[in-house]
Amino acid sequence: MKNRASLSSKNRYQNLLGGMSPQTFLRDYWQKKPLLVRAAISGFGGALTRQSLLDLCQRDDLESRFVSRQSNAWKLEHGPFRKSEIKRWKQSWTVLVQSVNLVLPEGDELLRAFNFIPYARLDDLMVSYATDGAGVGAHVDNYDVFLLQGSGTRRWRIGKQEDHRFIPDQPLRILQNFVAQEEHVLESGDMLYLPPQWAHDGIAEASASGDCMTWSIGFRAPPAQELADQFLSFLQDNLQLEGRYRDPDLSLQKHPAEIGNQMVEQVEQMLSGIRWKKSLIREFLGRMLTEPKPQVVFDPPQKPMSLNKFRAAVQTKVLQLDPRTQLLFSGQNFYLNGEHEVVPPSARAAIRQLADQRHLPPSKEIAEETAAILHCWYTDGFVNLVMRR
Ligand code: SIN
Ligand code: CO
Repeated sequence: MKNRASLSSKNRYQNLLGGMSPQTFLRDYWQKKPLLVRAAISGFGGALTRQSLLDLCQRDDLESRFVSRQSNAWKLEHGPFRKSEIKRWKQSWTVLVQSVNLVLPEGDELLRAFNFIPYARLDDLMVSYATDGAGVGAHVDNYDVFLLQGSGTRRWRIGKQEDHRFIPDQPLRILQNFVAQEEHVLESGDMLYLPPQWAHDGIAEASASGDCMTWSIGFRAPPAQELADQFLSFLQDNLQLEGRYRDPDLSLQKHPAEIGNQMVEQVEQMLSGIRWKKSLIREFLGRMLTEPKPQVVFDPPQKPMSLNKFRAAVQTKVLQLDPRTQLLFSGQNFYLNGEHEVVPPSARAAIRQLADQRHLPPSKEIAEETAAILHCWYTDGFVNLVMRR
């Protein structure tokens, strides 16, 4: 990715949708039909080499998978992988690393280039490396994905089919009867958008530009059951019901072993106090959506600067959210890494800007209260000061 540094972020991503406006994309394609964009990011080779991806799949703070196939038998292994294991990977194989955006600033920046979709819908950036002829098989995903070709070439065959039965007894859900309707060969910088439930099969092809690496920008669309499970556990911590069971009018029961109707009705009445307002749903969403992935650990600065020094530093340095930090807001409510943050009115505009753009340019006019909040986040390792982006 040699010429990336010379391009501003805005220019680098200006053709991300092939000249189409985000409004048109949302209206005609998002969750509806695939879109192929040639040279979505011109000169994109990906900021990762094969070796750096192989280094990432050895880390225990990232999820990684190894997939290979021998005739009709698929093999799936979960990382982290040891160097000695990697050395044994021969012939046709793929390695896939999730959440690369958490450890690679360029990855976070790429993910945020898709900000025509709310961050609340963003999941992560997965990067895969495949040897010539390899792929993870024909499958469907439950979420939208932008498949951006890094280095090398990949042939994608895609189709919309009702038959989602998969080959039995395999570690991966490979479609039994995949029928391709379209075929696209993607070169570096080309991108294919797929809505959920579109069958796809991507095969790495030998090319002059070398190893096949695919960058997948994935979205989250939680199933209702998962939302309900999480909400119920949130509710448990946030529910306070008054009163206690009472029965001063208790009459003699014929069967002492019987759970009487009166009891059932009273408990029904008591439990009908389990209600929630929109504000509680907002709180639940804010906390849930900003909850860092389980493996995330922040690195606070070892010798954090004092508030005064920090105030001076933000005048000349860029303040940026750590790639692992999740900051979202809803109205006047701000959520940071799973917590509700109290942000006074004077600081809200700046914190909203930070949430949207994930950085704040150097500023001489930063309000006192804003600086105090940011200083706290800086000492926790949630934001970093850098010379320039
Ligand atoms: C890959 O990168 O090999 C697979 C990506 C996908 O199918 O979602
Ligand atoms: Co897929």
